[in-house]
Amino acid sequence: MEKDQRIKIAVQKSGRLTENSLELLHRCGLVYSRGRDELICYGENMPIDILLVRDDDIPDLVRDDICDVGIVGYNVMHERRLELEASEMPVSFELHRTLDYGHCKLCLAVPESEDYAGPQTLQGKRIATSYPNLLREYLGKERVSAEIAVMSGAIEIAPKLGKADLICDLVSSGRTLAANHLRPVATVLQSQAALITTGARLPAAKRSWLERLLRRMEGVLQVRESKYIMLHAPRASLAEIRRLLPGSETPTVIPLEGCDDRVAVHAVCRENVFWETLEDLKGAGASSVLVLPVEKMLA
Ligand code: PRP
Ligand code: ZN
Repeated sequence: MEKDQRIKIAVQKSGRLTENSLELLHRCGLVYSRGRDELICYGENMPIDILLVRDDDIPDLVRDDICDVGIVGYNVMHERRLELEASEMPVSFELHRTLDYGHCKLCLAVPESEDYAGPQTLQGKRIATSYPNLLREYLGKERVSAEIAVMSGAIEIAPKLGKADLICDLVSSGRTLAANHLRPVATVLQSQAALITTGARLPAAKRSWLERLLRRMEGVLQVRESKYIMLHAPRASLAEIRRLLPGSETPTVIPLEGCDDRVAVHAVCRENVFWETLEDLKGAGASSVLVLPVEKMLA
């Protein structure tokens, strides 16, 4: 396939999404080698290359069709979307789906010694952030006016430096806030990893590879929680057993040799199976319960 026929995926070079994103692509069957500069990983078994870049650059790399796909924080994507919309520029990247990892929140946080009594506390305050558009949208919704001090890094030290009264920044484990004696008081946006795609029309061959990759991703994400469960159960409690199996479709019921009142039940559960469920199944008369991870699934 020609060079420009290869799919390019933008992934954060180093940060909260890097490892999980590369792992996701790996589980989609992509085998890649890293170039010498380590910024491009060339796909060896599929016409798909990975570009390792700064996360803030990902929406525009997809928007400008330098990359066809990007994996980026929902927060970064939405901030850029609002910014483009505010300046009446075409957005031209599309959210394909969220990926259920890299969960974090964009939060308002105040110095530990300060009180916070709801959004009206923000009136007239100065808030440091690198997400001015998301913050502006939030303030508008809460009908308060506050000054937004745009900073590109080290937001958490702004109050200490007297550059702001409070901050609006990303919180994941909460360690950064705690280390800076700040406490989160409100959530502006819930975020997680998101897959964005170009709005441009792709040549047929490229499009079909992209569709294939996206289908595999659906499969990978679906099996992450899915379990294959096997158990023996009294025929009489089949209805209850079925009710207890989380997110399962019609289970397979198999007769047990020389045993009329008990059967084997096999089912795929589309949700995680917790110890509580196993205990409930046992309570309903199940025995020999086995829960196995699902490796691959193609709907
Ligand atoms: C965010 C935020 C904090 C940190 C919070 O930065 O600005 O520095 O993460 O995480 P914690 O609650 O686990 O301490 P990020 O690493 O996303 O960097 P970036 O926004 O510059 O890409
Ligand atoms: Zn960043």
